[in-house]
Amino acid sequence: MQETIIAYFSPTGTSRKVAQAIARGLKAAKVIETDVTHPYAAPAAQLRADQVLVVAVPVYGGACAPIALQRLDMLYGNDTPAVAVVVYGNRDFGNAANELSDFLTQRGFCIVGAAAFVGEHSYSTPDLPIAEGRPHADDLQEAERFGMALHDKMSHNVTAIDTEKLKRPSGNLLGKLRFMAFVLRYRSAQKKHPVKVLPITDKARCTACGLCAKVCPVAAISTECPTETAGSCIKCAACVKACPQRARTLPTPFAPVLAKNFKKQKPNIIIY
Ligand SMILES: Cc1cc2nc3c(=O)[nH]c(=O)nc-3n(C[C@H](O)[C@H](O)[C@H](O)COP(=O)(O)O)c2cc1C
Repeated sequence: MQETIIAYFSPTGTSRKVAQAIARGLKAAKVIETDVTHPYAAPAAQLRADQVLVVAVPVYGGACAPIALQRLDMLYGNDTPAVAVVVYGNRDFGNAANELSDFLTQRGFCIVGAAAFVGEHSYSTPDLPIAEGRPHADDLQEAERFGMALHDKMSHNVTAIDTEKLKRPSGNLLGKLRFMAFVLRYRSAQKKHPVKVLPITDKARCTACGLCAKVCPVAAISTECPTETAGSCIKCAACVKACPQRARTLPTPFAPVLAKNFKKQKPNIIIY
């Protein structure tokens, strides 16, 4: 393959890092990056059969982040080989890998490889770490080796894989049950008294530099008054992680439950 196209939606950068590492392993003469984290008017792009597409998106609520698929809607393949990658915060990737594969297959791509990589959870903080620092250097080496294996595979033949075979890691039953019990209680409380959790800003720390507004994928933060966040916020935590003053926090009740119940680091799952 002469050209690799990498496309990602990645508010906190983990999906981007994994996609870039896979592309390094694919050793294409040219790599074209399509970052759909921020809205832009992209014309529909029809890829050729001699190109390869690597798509990486984060898992939100056990599925692909909906906005990621909306923004990747302009990509079409012509039996173009594609690699479907979902990046999740060490809890569970649910049906996201199959969802992404189906999405790409319907657009004319041939899925030659799929993976679920672990990335630092969007809600991870130094006090409540959840898969902190991932993808680590060894995760990225694994992603690069995955790219190399795909390169070898495609030099022989381009055959589609069955992403149903991408198995979710087993174990940690107690953690999963505790998390499910929390979600049920949370949903029932939300039904009675709906509360929308939004990032908050410590005005004493905020210097109004505007970086939070710049990194927000949905323009929910006003550039004039960056201490305010609109209800259109998708809670991706890009603003929290980007703030150089650590002035922004996302007080989600999910963070302590995730930090407590998903301490054990999960492996990356790959098939090709
Ligand atoms: C709204 C939301 C929902 C999430 N849901 C899940 C989930 O169901 N399972 C999981 O393991 N991680 C979940 N995460 C964590 C992200 O999948 C993970 O942090 C990912 O690495 C973020 O990708 P990015 O760095 O490319 O933005 C969620 C994050 C957010 C913001």
